[in-house]
Amino acid sequence: MGVNAIINKVGRIESFILDDDIKIYYKYASMLKSGENIVDIGTGWGKSAAALALSNPQAVVWTYDPGDYLIDKNVVHNHTKYIEMILRTFDNLKIKNIKFQAIDAMQADRPVIARIVHFDLNGDSDYNTQCLFKKWSRHLCSNGVVLVRNYHLGRSEKKMADIVFKNYKNEGQEGYITVFRKP
Ligand SMILES: C[S@@+](CC[C@H](N)C(=O)[O-])C[C@H]1O[C@@H](n2cnc3c(N)ncnc32)[C@H](O)[C@@H]1O
Repeated sequence: MGVNAIINKVGRIESFILDDDIKIYYKYASMLKSGENIVDIGTGWGKSAAALALSNPQAVVWTYDPGDYLIDKNVVHNHTKYIEMILRTFDNLKIKNIKFQAIDAMQADRPVIARIVHFDLNGDSDYNTQCLFKKWSRHLCSNGVVLVRNYHLGRSEKKMADIVFKNYKNEGQEGYITVFRKP
């Protein structure tokens, strides 16, 4: 499936994800080999995970979110409803290559080694952001990429990426995504 078809397919999912963000997901995800892993932190409404999964149906997308943000915003009433909403979203799109866990990504045990880690946080605390960046950079393979959404806004994503990814190569920004490549 081409990128425009993916943009169209996920277009109905509520979210802040831009079409240009999806072009970046496609650019990096479509080049992975069968069975390689993508980690998406901050499932939210499921749009980034869905776009990444559709970009390469042979890759596996692991996405984590306890759902607190959408529960706080009254989008869903509770944790169970959040899980139902996300599973329904992926099911409606007939996506099979997503593994969703409604947990804090810091709690994920035995994480896979990823070729791509996408962080879509909400300008969360420096502490949360730094812990996530540090943990998941250890589970990124050499030459893998980190996609940091909202880096250019200068919030904790920028502050912490500049520390944790200081030895990575900044490959630039498209949409709201800044790309860092691990040495
Ligand atoms: C902007 S939303 C993500 C939007 C999402 N990527 C989409 O496509 O709809 C940010 C999400 O990050 C989640 N989040 C924040 N800290 C987290 C953590 N430690 N582990 C997992 N998710 C986290 C929040 O619950 C929130 O839903």
